[in-house]
Amino acid sequence: MKYGYFDDKKREYVITRPDTPAPWVNYLGDPEYGAIVSNNAGGYSFVKSGANGRILRYVFNQFDEPGRYIYLRDNETKDFWSASWQPVGKDLEKYKSECHHGTAYTRMMADYSGIHSEVRYYVPLGQSYEVWSLCVENCSDKEREINVTGYAEFTNNSNYEQDQVNLQYSQYITKTVFRGNRVRQMIHANLDRLDEGEKVDNKDVTNRFLGLAGVPVDSWCGEKEAFLGRYHGYGNPVGVIDGKLNCEGNYNENSCGALTAVLKLAPGEKKEMAFLVGMKKNDEAEAIVARYDQNCQQVCERELEELISYWHGQLSHFQIKTPSNEFNTMINTWNAYNCFMTFIWSRAASFTYCGLRNGYGYRDTVQDIQGVIHLAPEMAADKIRFMLSAQVDNGGGLPLVKFTHNPGHEDTPDDASYVQETGHPAYRADDALWLFPTVYKYVSETGNVDFIDEVIPFANKDEGTVYEHLKRAIQFSMEHLGKHGMPAGLYADWNDCLRLGKDGESTFVALQFYYAMTILKEFAAYEKDEEYISYLEKSQEKLGELIEKLCWNEDRFIRGFTEAGEIIGQRTDPEANMWLNPQSWAVISGLATKEQSELALEQVYERLNTEYGAILMDPPYHAHAFDGALAVIYNAGTKENAGIFSQSQGWIILAEALMGHGERAFGYFMENAPAAQNDKAEIRRLEPYCYGQFTEGKASPNFGRSHVHWLTGTASTVMVGCVEGILGMRPDFYGLRIAPSIPKEWDGFEVEKDFRGCHLHIKVQNPGHAESGFKKLTVNGEELKDNYIPQDKLTAETEVELYLS
Ligand code: GLC
Repeated sequence: MKYGYFDDKKREYVITRPDTPAPWVNYLGDPEYGAIVSNNAGGYSFVKSGANGRILRYVFNQFDEPGRYIYLRDNETKDFWSASWQPVGKDLEKYKSECHHGTAYTRMMADYSGIHSEVRYYVPLGQSYEVWSLCVENCSDKEREINVTGYAEFTNNSNYEQDQVNLQYSQYITKTVFRGNRVRQMIHANLDRLDEGEKVDNKDVTNRFLGLAGVPVDSWCGEKEAFLGRYHGYGNPVGVIDGKLNCEGNYNENSCGALTAVLKLAPGEKKEMAFLVGMKKNDEAEAIVARYDQNCQQVCERELEELISYWHGQLSHFQIKTPSNEFNTMINTWNAYNCFMTFIWSRAASFTYCGLRNGYGYRDTVQDIQGVIHLAPEMAADKIRFMLSAQVDNGGGLPLVKFTHNPGHEDTPDDASYVQETGHPAYRADDALWLFPTVYKYVSETGNVDFIDEVIPFANKDEGTVYEHLKRAIQFSMEHLGKHGMPAGLYADWNDCLRLGKDGESTFVALQFYYAMTILKEFAAYEKDEEYISYLEKSQEKLGELIEKLCWNEDRFIRGFTEAGEIIGQRTDPEANMWLNPQSWAVISGLATKEQSELALEQVYERLNTEYGAILMDPPYHAHAFDGALAVIYNAGTKENAGIFSQSQGWIILAEALMGHGERAFGYFMENAPAAQNDKAEIRRLEPYCYGQFTEGKASPNFGRSHVHWLTGTASTVMVGCVEGILGMRPDFYGLRIAPSIPKEWDGFEVEKDFRGCHLHIKVQNPGHAESGFKKLTVNGEELKDNYIPQDKLTAETEVELYLS
C-alpha cells in the first residue's frame, strides 16, 4: 500500500493519503530551535534541548497529539475542519489534502467545501522561533466568512518530565495574557520583580508566545481546557465550535495559545498570514511578529527560498544518476538529509527519543559524522574536533558526551560523579575505535593532512595532536585486553546488549582494532614515525594471528568470549550461532582471507538474509542466553535479539562491495531501503523516506515492520556502504580511487562530486555488464594506469571516465 510519492526535483516526499500507518514526520530548525512535525501537524518544539527546553507539548505514544493545529470554520454553516487532516479528521471523500515534507520545511494543502488552505511550517534559517505561514483561498463562487484559529499547546515547564508528571508544581507556575496580537505565556511570572540575571532557586521568568501576523486577531484564549472544553478533544474544541474564543488567560492549570482571525473572502480571494511561536521575551516577540505583519507573504516566501537553497546546496556536493530511482532518491536526497539529521540531532529528539539523553553518545556521533563527510567536510571536521576533545587522556571515549561538554575539565567513567550524572558506569570497548575510519575519511576527502597535527584537548586533562589522540585510542585497547589477549568486551561493544566484561572478548572490537592499526599506519607513514609503524606492524600481526586462531569457526567468525571463557556464536550453539557483524567486519577490516570472506558472506546470505535485510544474529536468544546476553530481554525477532538491525545493513553492503560483489551489495541495499518499500507502507509502517533503527525479523509475527524513525546510525552506515562501496568512491590522503560494485544489468552511472575544491564529473561505463572490475580510466582525456586519480590530475572541472568492463 502506498501513501505518497517522491518528488525528486523538489526533493520532497508528497503524502497523498493522510491516514498513514504511523505519524510520518519531518525535522525543522537546528539545535538552537528544533521542531518536529508530522503529516498531521502533530509534534513538538524546543529550544536547545528536547528534554529541558520543551516549548510545545506532545504526548508520546498517544495518537500523534497535540500539534501545531490550524482550524478553519465556515461561519455560515458552522462546519469546521483543520489545515492538516487531523485533528478534526473530516471524511476523506470530501476532504482532500497533501503533505509535502521537504528539506527543513513542511507544506500542507487542504481542500474542503470550496476553501483551499496551504500551511508551511518552518524555522527561518539561523533563527530561533517557528513560522506557520498560512494562505486561505476562497475557491467557491460566493463570499465566505471563515474563522482561522491557530492553536499551540505550551508546556507548563521547559523540562519535559516536570511538565508531564510533576503537576503539583508545574501547573502553578504558568500564566497567559494577551498582548497586541499575541498570547504571551509566562512561567514563574511572579518572579518578574527580579533584576536582569537575578534568579530565585535558579529560576526566573520564562516567556513564550503564539503571535499572529498579517491579519487582526478577533478573539483569543490562553487556557487549554477553556479552549477544548471539558470532555472535548482536539478534534472538536468548543473554542472552534462556538466561533469565538473566550478571551481569557490561564492562571494555574494548563496554558495554551489560541488565536482566531475572521476572514471575509470574496470568490477567488486569498489571504496570507503567519502564526509565530517561540520562547522569547515580550519585546523580542513583539518585534518578530511585527516583521511579518507587513508583506507577510513575501517575507515568508523569501525565508523559505533561503532555507531551500541552503539545504539543496548542502546536498548538491554529491549527486548521482543511476538506473535505480530508489537508489538515486536515497543517495541524492533522503539518505543524505537523514545523515544531516542524525549529525545534528544525534539521538536527542524524535517521536521515539524524548530528549532525555542529554548528550552525544560517543560511538553514535563519531559514526554519524561519516555520513556527511562527502557533503560537508568542514562541518564534519568541527564535530570531529569536538569528539576528539571528548576522548579521555587514557585514550577511551566518554560513553556520553554532555551537551555542556567542557574539554579539559570533564569527569570520566573512573569518577563516581560522571557515573551518577550520565548513568554510564564504565568505558565501552569500541567508542574510540570509531575515530579511525571517521578521521581517515575526513582527511582523505579533503586532503587536509595538516589536520593530523592539529592540537586538541583531551576530555579530562592534557592535549595532543590528532595523531596523538589516535595513538592513545590504540593504547586504550592495548591496556584493556581480555584473557586471550584480544580486546576486552568491557561494558559493551557496538552491541549495547552484549556485556562481555573486562575479561570477556569481542571479535567485533578485535576486528575494529585490527582495522584501526591499518589506518594508523597511514598516519604514521605521513608522520614518518618509523618506530611506531614497526610497533603497529608487530601488534597487528599478533592480533591477526589471535583472531585467526580463536575466532574462525569453519565457515564463520564467532562473536566473542564471555568472562567465563564460553564461546559466543559457534556454529554448534543452539541459539545465536551465526552473527552478522563479525562477518562483515572481517571483510571490512581486511583481516579475513579471500576464502574466509567468501565463506562467511555466503553464510550470511543463506542464514541471515531476508527480504527486508539481514538479521543481526540467529536463532534468537530464548533459553540459552549467557549472563551478559541482554538481548534476551527483547521479544524474538526484535532489536538486538534477531531483529534486522538496520545499521548493520550498511556494513554488509560495504563488505560485499569491497569483495566486488555488486549484485549482493545492491541487493542488500534494496531490501532495507525505505524508498524501495514505498508501496509496502502497511508492512513497513515507518516513513518511506528515512531509515529506522530496526525492522522486525522473521522470528516476529510482524516480520517487516520497522521502528525508531530517523535518528539511527543506519543513515551513515548505509550512506558509506553506498558511496564507498557500491559507487566505489574511495579517497585516500593523496587522491581518489574509483572502484564501483554494481548490479550487472547497469550500463553505467554518473556522479557529480565536489572534491578538494574541484568538481568531478564521473561517468562509469559498463558495456560488458560486470559487477565490478577495471578496464580503463581517463581523466580529462588522459588515460591513467589504474583506477586511481592522484590529486595533481584534478582540475576545476574534471572529466572522469571509467570503464568497468
Ligand atoms: C543503538 C545505540 C547504539 C548501539 C546500537 C546497537 O542504536 O544507539 O549506540 O550501537 O543500538 O546496540
